[in-house]
Amino acid sequence: MFTVCCDVEAPTALTKEYVLGGPVTAGTLNKLHINKKLTNFRPAEEQKKALISISELPGGMVYVARSGFEIVGYITFYRPEEYFRWSKHSKIIELGAIEISSEWRKKGIAEALLKESFSNPVMEEFIVITMEFSWSWDVKGSGLELFEYQKMLEKLFGIVNLKRRTTNDPEITEHPANVLMARVGKHVRTGDIILFDKLLLEDKPQFH
Ligand SMILES: CC(C)(COP(=O)(O)OP(=O)(O)OC[C@H]1O[C@@H](n2cnc3c(N)ncnc32)[C@H](O)[C@@H]1OP(=O)(O)O)[C@@H](O)C(=O)NCCC(=O)NCCS
Repeated sequence: MFTVCCDVEAPTALTKEYVLGGPVTAGTLNKLHINKKLTNFRPAEEQKKALISISELPGGMVYVARSGFEIVGYITFYRPEEYFRWSKHSKIIELGAIEISSEWRKKGIAEALLKESFSNPVMEEFIVITMEFSWSWDVKGSGLELFEYQKMLEKLFGIVNLKRRTTNDPEITEHPANVLMARVGKHVRTGDIILFDKLLLEDKPQFH
């Protein structure tokens, strides 16, 4: 679908306690350890396997923040899964997850990973969406209320121009804190933007 390039280290991050890299290959991920507190979505070792699987998907991309040989944060992208309406659109990629170890939060790593991944020119060819499901957030560990967390994420994703979009996707509307955010790349054709706008408010509800 698109070329996924090499393991790259961001020179701007080299002076900090961590470095950024990506899109990383499965081979690189295999050589790294994963921080034990990267458990927001699944146990850490399972998360490492999930990152490896994503890196091997056609169109899958994984960026990591690492300290030495330890992954302390990551962001993933892939084509929407088949049971989501978004999979009908060939120019959509999904930001699947961003997670920073609780030992490494509030150091600007999420912001840096977003900026690094969105600086990849391939992003300008696609509409990037993120489906933010409130059940998946670390509200408890954040010290925030649920809707404060939602606002925090909107602001964070807003850094790379992901904007909240209205949709009737039942996966999103099933909880008032859920949000869909999207960013239309500079080179996305008008026809593909129109198709995306239609998908946002598609008539036919999804069946499960
Ligand atoms: C959300 C998450 C990725 C943020 O990572 P992070 O590296 O701590 O974020 P950053 O340090 O880059 O902070 C970015 C901004 O968010 C704010 N922020 C982050 N966590 C916050 C918190 N708990 N309370 C208030 N503000 C917070 C920061 O203050 C910063 O804003 P500023 O630039 O105005 O100061 C991290 O908390 C996490 O992994 N959460 C669990 C997984 C999750 O919810 N992922 C998102 C959905 S996929």
